[in-house]
Amino acid sequence: MKGLILAGGSGTRLRPITHTGAKQLVPVANTPILFYGLQHLADAGIREVGIVTGDTGEEIRAAVGDGSTWGLEVTYLPQEAPLGLAHAVLIARDFLGDDDFVMYLGDNLLRDGIVPFVEGFEAARAADATSAAAQILLAPVPDPQRFGVAELGDDGSVVALVEKPEVPPSDLALVGVYLFDPTIHEAVRAIEPSDRGELEITDAIQWLIDAGHRVRHEILHGWWLDTGKLTPLLEANRLLLEIVEPANAGEVDEHSQLDGRVAIAEGAVITNSVIRGPVVIGVGTVVTDSYIGPFTSVDRDCIVEGSELEHSIVLAGSRISNVPRVIDSLIGRDAVVARSEQRPRANRFLVGDHCQIFIDT
Ligand code: TTP
Repeated sequence: MKGLILAGGSGTRLRPITHTGAKQLVPVANTPILFYGLQHLADAGIREVGIVTGDTGEEIRAAVGDGSTWGLEVTYLPQEAPLGLAHAVLIARDFLGDDDFVMYLGDNLLRDGIVPFVEGFEAARAADATSAAAQILLAPVPDPQRFGVAELGDDGSVVALVEKPEVPPSDLALVGVYLFDPTIHEAVRAIEPSDRGELEITDAIQWLIDAGHRVRHEILHGWWLDTGKLTPLLEANRLLLEIVEPANAGEVDEHSQLDGRVAIAEGAVITNSVIRGPVVIGVGTVVTDSYIGPFTSVDRDCIVEGSELEHSIVLAGSRISNVPRVIDSLIGRDAVVARSEQRPRANRFLVGDHCQIFIDT
């Protein structure tokens, strides 16, 4: 079985971060989202992985390399434009050959990985090779109207998939992990682009069902998040920090206090500050005269001075100086958020496209 990770796309819902970087590389608990997916594929015994990339292909390549960190062999599959999840399968045809494969959306995060999901498919097909041409992963959600939703038949097979239904046939939303046998290649060639101009994977799966192939499903029990927007990203950060191993490889002076689950990486320096976990502080980050509160990840080489920070993600190389309270925030790479001492007192901005700034005066 092979793996196919989708790490292209346009990432409009996470602008401005995605103007300059790949959303799949935004760190959650200081580890890029994509790395959790690679680990889950490796844990499921998969070795050969194709990564579909778009405009941010170079950055993804630089971060993942040949995949040997996870014991994987990675092949990069550039997609000329984000023409849909089924289009990604279309361009991966030569890489996938006639193997079964797991398709994994690179911005999805699953707490418990995919081992039982893969085993369920393999066991069903070992018993009867025609028992399933595909398998989807479903999670019960309170608001199915916002998701792709599955309708199940009496025998548990998937009868239909509907995108964002007004009247949902069930509360079971499609999670971003799929299993396919080679029949899917016929399906992605047969379907037409949707109204939004994309080749939809839901249409390809519906094509399989309509052509008489069986589509199995498994129910996901642990949490899962589609991190393509700010709120789920902060939520994923919160959930992962809750299970982070406390560690202190940095320097913490005697005027500082660490409470609860706090992981401080090597080279970090904490002076006269209170860090109340769960919190992770990256390599070489300097925190001075500050408070860093629960559910905050500060990546490497940042400076936090005279500031208070909580429930936030700060990417590498940023500086936060003399800002009394920052909460629920995502701060990009090499950004500066600082209180100005200039006169006249005023707010001064150099703000890129699609940024959002909320001021409390
Ligand atoms: P989405 O989040 O559905 O799409 P998007 O990245 O274009 O984001 P937005 O809606 O905010 O503009 O994509 C799910 C995953 O699949 C994500 O990791 C990007 C990837 N993807 C591709 O690799 N190729 C594609 O053609 C599409 C549509 C998505």
